[in-house]
Amino acid sequence: MPAEPTAAPAPPVRVLSGIQPTGRFHWGNYFGAIRQYIELQTAGDAFYFIADLHALTTVREPARLRQLVHDAAVDLIALGLDPDRATLFVQSDVPEVTELTWLLLTVTPMGLLERCHAYKDKKTRGLAADAGLFTYPVLMSADILAYDATVVPVGEDQVQHVEVCRDLAGTFNHLYGDVFTLPRARLVEAGARVPGTDGQKMSKSYENTIDVFEDPAVQKKKIMRITTDSRPMDQPKEPDGDHLFDLFALVADPAEREAMAALYRRGGFGYGEVKKALVDAAARHFAGARQRRAELERDPGRIEAILAAGARRARAQAGAVLDRARRACGLARGTARREGA
Ligand code: ADP
Ligand code: TRP
Repeated sequence: MPAEPTAAPAPPVRVLSGIQPTGRFHWGNYFGAIRQYIELQTAGDAFYFIADLHALTTVREPARLRQLVHDAAVDLIALGLDPDRATLFVQSDVPEVTELTWLLLTVTPMGLLERCHAYKDKKTRGLAADAGLFTYPVLMSADILAYDATVVPVGEDQVQHVEVCRDLAGTFNHLYGDVFTLPRARLVEAGARVPGTDGQKMSKSYENTIDVFEDPAVQKKKIMRITTDSRPMDQPKEPDGDHLFDLFALVADPAEREAMAALYRRGGFGYGEVKKALVDAAARHFAGARQRRAELERDPGRIEAILAAGARRARAQAGAVLDRARRACGLARGTARREGA
């Protein structure tokens, strides 16, 4: 009897993403990015890190940076990142990545970086850019390649950088042999643009954010001040595209959302009551996360232990890739001599 054809084994999926600790997480960060990253922790082997080296290009106060890194770790775990499933670590705890950045810089055309938007935007606005910002996509490439990542979930603004990474990995492989695994960007839920309290895209730069773990009284004030139009109470309104409704839809459960949409279409309601409903729905939506966060904050040793274990796992992986890269390009015996072997 002929043997059953066996399918080739699917390549292992390794998910990796980095999150800059440049401020406390707002609803845009959570619904637009973090929630999807966390969901992907079950899709394969997952590595998530807090990109403190990248944040150094904007956060220049040491105490604040330290606090933001700690908060990011606590927030991510409270929001559902499971350190037993995914490797959570801090970027700067893995020095192998900065060494790999140098190796990649030697194959990076200037023109490629000149076209990258973070740098280009700053230049166009006439602002002084430093070499850190200019070479930022190369550090990001090293972040991805050091862990043999295959899937990189990112927001739209980061897709270009993953393309740079593929480009550099391709060039290096072409010159030196098969060293790096080529990753793919996975655009998180296109169209998930979360509006801010003024109806523009929610962003730290526009001061229109609602933070995930902000003090409830402060959050309530912000919500009650969300801008609205001056439609008379009795007039119906199309809910979709109304930023107050869109925010409600993010935190409400499906039945509440449908009921609110019907209320909009019927008319005879005031924005004040929608805002109150939003305050309550947000409190309910994040109640579990807030409670987990409070518990984690009572046990700072636990966060440190999680990050230390994450760094050990990450270094083991990045060390192997760096060794491959060093050997391939002619740096004597990979990392062996340096380690005293
Ligand atoms: P900010 O604009 O507040 O500085 P960041 O640029 O640090 O936010 O955002 C980090 C990630 O969060 C982005 O890559 C993007 O995927 C996501 N994100 C931020 N703001 C929004 C938003 N308003 N809607 C959807 N996603 C967002
Ligand atoms: N540059 C990303 C951002 O600003 C953060 C980041 C750094 C990253 N290194 C990465 C994301 C590697 C994905 C993979 O959001």
